[in-house]
Amino acid sequence: MAKLRVQSFAVSLDGYGAGPDQDLEHPLGVNGPELMEWFFHSRFWQKMHGQEGGETGTDNEIAEQGFAGIGAWILGRNMFGPVRGPWPDESWKGWWGDEPPYHTPVFVLTHYARAPLPMAGGTTFHFVTEGIHAALERATAAAGGRDVRLGGGAATIRQYLAESLIDELHLAVRPILLGRGEPLFQGLDLRALGYECTRWVAGERAAHVFLRRRM
Ligand SMILES: NC(=O)c1ccc[n+]([C@@H]2O[C@H](COP(=O)([O-])OP(=O)(O)OC[C@H]3O[C@@H](n4cnc5c(N)ncnc54)[C@H](OP(=O)(O)O)[C@@H]3O)[C@@H](O)[C@H]2O)c1
Repeated sequence: MAKLRVQSFAVSLDGYGAGPDQDLEHPLGVNGPELMEWFFHSRFWQKMHGQEGGETGTDNEIAEQGFAGIGAWILGRNMFGPVRGPWPDESWKGWWGDEPPYHTPVFVLTHYARAPLPMAGGTTFHFVTEGIHAALERATAAAGGRDVRLGGGAATIRQYLAESLIDELHLAVRPILLGRGEPLFQGLDLRALGYECTRWVAGERAAHVFLRRRM
């Protein structure tokens, strides 16, 4: 049975999944890149960007696993970009350039309709205005039996958690304090929602924590 999975979502010790004040210069919010240090140094990340080198080890292996067996993605609109409100035009095409790393259909939750956006390498961004259930249905159908990865950000993951719709979550817990930003756990009683921690592994730059919804 295909699953809805959160993978490689980085969170600070104080529970933030992004820094505050996202804009064009701060895609992850102010101080947000500190969250992704475990990923940026990995060989997998370097390879994704056409570069040699990078670190191997636990962080690298876990980063790589996050892309295996995924047939579609769901993202929140702020993960797709810094543009807020009605789309002024079609010029914003995501943070990732002409060939985004998804290579599958990607369903972007937004309140503002927009035509589908095909990109190089098999990624097409579809903009979903009918809410989280519609996005999940469309992504599941598009994934053709493979899993759906819920990429983030925090506000989007919180909504799926609040309805216990996520089967598995991998969080890369970074030993940093952000102080302010986008909170991942705010308002959620994960235990009452049926989640449990099944294992954790010490990586080189993050503690990897695996949660799943009890059957
Ligand atoms: N820590 C990590 O590993 C990680 C991973 C991915 C992203 N990030 C970071 O997380 C930040 C973004 O997270 P975020 O919490 O600010 O926002 P987000 O979840 O990416 O996007 C929230 C926005 O998506 C739209 N949306 C969400 N749910 C919707 C629904 N049910 N119906 C219609 N529209 C809906 C709304 O946009 P509109 O109303 O404007 O349309 C909403 O303001 C970015 O800085 C990103 O870089 C971090």
